[in-house]
Amino acid sequence: MSKSIATFTLSSGTKIPWLAWGNGSGDAHKTAIESGRIAIAAGIRHIDTAQNYGNEEATGEVVKTSSLKKDDIFVTTKLSGRTNDKKLQGTAEYINPLNEVRTVIKGSIEKLGFVPDLFLIHNPHVVPRADLKATWGIFEDMKAAGELKDIGVSNFRPQDLEIILEGARYKPVVNQFEYHPYVLAHLKPVLEIGKKHGILTEAFGPLTPLLRHPTGGPLKPVLTRIAQCVSSSNPDLPVKVDEVTVLLLWTRATGAVAVTASGNPGRIQGLADIAHLPGDLLTAEEVEEISRVGQTVHFRYYAEHMSTDFPAPDLPDGTN
Ligand SMILES: NC(=O)c1ccc[n+]([C@@H]2O[C@H](COP(=O)([O-])OP(=O)(O)OC[C@H]3O[C@@H](n4cnc5c(N)ncnc54)[C@H](OP(=O)(O)O)[C@@H]3O)[C@@H](O)[C@H]2O)c1
Repeated sequence: MSKSIATFTLSSGTKIPWLAWGNGSGDAHKTAIESGRIAIAAGIRHIDTAQNYGNEEATGEVVKTSSLKKDDIFVTTKLSGRTNDKKLQGTAEYINPLNEVRTVIKGSIEKLGFVPDLFLIHNPHVVPRADLKATWGIFEDMKAAGELKDIGVSNFRPQDLEIILEGARYKPVVNQFEYHPYVLAHLKPVLEIGKKHGILTEAFGPLTPLLRHPTGGPLKPVLTRIAQCVSSSNPDLPVKVDEVTVLLLWTRATGAVAVTASGNPGRIQGLADIAHLPGDLLTAEEVEEISRVGQTVHFRYYAEHMSTDFPAPDLPDGTN
């Protein structure tokens, strides 16, 4: 597909494609090279990877062997914990000592074969709490020296953002976290800080209300109705507009990058087609309705992220 994908502009001025294909989950993780190649051939231009997905080399391979220039593919990676075992979070086996952070970052650059467009701290627990500010300082130093491009964070709660924002030389350009209508109520303080400091939201798990909520909850019929409405008012669209499409378009309409995934060639092509859709298919009322109905429920899938010391709202989970 030759048409370019719409972008958001980071506070640094860098353009970031609004939809990313991640290789950290499901079959996309298992087949990072094959599926990554399919994603690029299908027209996706943004790959989201991380140290602990174990496929930065595969990501580098996909970019290197594509017919595109590196600059045509936006790549994000993350400083992760030292092990994949989330049960070890909080232990020395998981946490990067401060004096290793720079080397670990350089290791990613070596595995990828290029400096990624965006380097994130995967979550605030990957370094000792007392060293979070100093870790951000290393990211800032490397950015100032031209060793890193854009820098940001992931799964940062208000109390984590406060630490790194105080006196920051560079504010994080993004905060990547689970984002969809069923966590909106919980996320309000994070989104407010983001808005104040120009931190773009990157939404992982954006399809959770449809794929992981046991019933789909009260949003399901709303998404179905809106999908039918968009389809009938736009009969010539190259995409069959379904509930997945509407949820991703809602993500975009609320100003967030959608970080989704698939290891299924047909669905990868479908995601690429959605990435190329015009940005005005949903009305302001439809976007507002999805947000409003979503905020009647609290349902989080990635429970290890952002649920400690950040109380969830007292809302039903929408299963009945
Ligand atoms: N920063 C973090 O801590 C963090 C945490 C989690 C995830 N992430 C990033 O976000 C990426 C996506 O996360 P996610 O998997 O939670 O995102 P998601 O968009 O909520 O779910 C993606 C899943 O949806 C399925 N899918 C895709 N298109 C579909 C369609 N049209 N119809 C039905 N199912 C469809 C895919 O399964 P099939 O493969 O079967 O198509 C895939 O496993 C990860 O790969 C990773 O890069 C980051």
